Amino acid sequence: MTEKLHVGLGSRSYDIIVGERLLAKVGQYIAPVIKGKNVIIISDSNVSRFYLHRLSNALEEAKINFRCIIVPAGEATKSLGSFSELIENILEQKPDRKTVLIALGGGVIGDLTGFAASVLLRGVDFIQIPTTLLSQVDSSVGGKTGINSRFGKNLIGSFHQPLLVLADVATLSTLPKRELLSGYAEVVKYGFINNPDFFSWMEKNGKEIINGDTSLQTQAILKSCAAKAEIVAADEKEQNIRALLNFGHTFAHAFEAETGYSDKLLHGEAVAIGMVLAFAASVKMGICPPDDLAKATSHLKEIGLHTSPIEINKNWNINALMEHFTRDKKAGDGKLTFVLSRGIGKAFIQNDVEPEIIYQTLVENCKN
Ligand SMILES: NC(=O)c1ccc[n+]([C@@H]2O[C@H](COP(=O)([O-])OP(=O)(O)OC[C@H]3O[C@@H](n4cnc5c(N)ncnc54)[C@H](O)[C@@H]3O)[C@@H](O)[C@H]2O)c1
Repeated sequence: MTEKLHVGLGSRSYDIIVGERLLAKVGQYIAPVIKGKNVIIISDSNVSRFYLHRLSNALEEAKINFRCIIVPAGEATKSLGSFSELIENILEQKPDRKTVLIALGGGVIGDLTGFAASVLLRGVDFIQIPTTLLSQVDSSVGGKTGINSRFGKNLIGSFHQPLLVLADVATLSTLPKRELLSGYAEVVKYGFINNPDFFSWMEKNGKEIINGDTSLQTQAILKSCAAKAEIVAADEKEQNIRALLNFGHTFAHAFEAETGYSDKLLHGEAVAIGMVLAFAASVKMGICPPDDLAKATSHLKEIGLHTSPIEINKNWNINALMEHFTRDKKAGDGKLTFVLSRGIGKAFIQNDVEPEIIYQTLVENCKN
């Protein structure tokens, strides 16, 4: 099954193709959309071992010239140092304005390559070939690109939409289970935001998705991309409703920062915990039924995700966690901005959250 979705953004519109064993035939999708005949593939040390030869063969068949740059796997590659090395390596290949960058990998490669494409020769096209569940359902769509600073995640970046997104579901077969689970959190997120029926579908099919049922994985990816495409088309630069996609992320970023963006806590794992806390804070404010918090928590737990910060660390520094919110999100009056929930499928953006509510939510959830 190969399916096509369209992201409608005027002159920056593009297609998302989702299917099994797409890599072998990507040439037929890439050749018609690129301006010239030259592409540069950027991949990481893990993904290239599994999939670079398939992509290379497909490009050769389509008579597209290609070069490859392989960078180390992992979040540390989204740094200024790695970025500067990458961009110099790309320039060494003498690209021109028609050269297209291809990101073959997870969200790290997609974010890094997209950012490189947005500044290389004042902007060249790029194509996303996401190979993790997280990147297939989230980061490859929507045009947010970026790298990290020592002051925080994704603080250096741009909006630069891809020319095409090609998600080959078969690549998920080699993805470590922990990474698959991490991506799953971003899938459930779409149900929590505005689609309770999708959440019910995930409750029914989640286990099979994690166990590798490719047909259900394809459906989950398509539903997620359609949800994201709709929100991005309505608010490309996050002036309003796109912020809903950050459900659970404000908490998640604080936990990620406090664990040093390390393997101790993957992004999606932090998002799962963050979403539970967003429900918990909403219950505390009396706007969300406690049953919905219980239902959301129990599904994430059943699937194998962490749902409490204590499972990661027994002794969080609450003041340090709070500082992440007050530093980044403070409104003029000292109140905070959070995506909260009135129940499953009813997320909303609240700009004047009392810090005390968030503090108490952390105290209740981060201490034994
Ligand atoms: N731009 C956005 O809108 C957006 C949205 C969400 C997350 N992100 C970013 O995405 C990044 C996380 O992405 P991720 O979870 O994909 O991490 P990742 O790119 O680091 O990939 C996770 C690990 O899996 C390996 N891997 C990837 N595909 C594989 C495959 N098919 N088989 C075997 N191994 C494979 C990678 O080498 C890596 O070790 C974070 O930096 C986050 O900030 C961006």
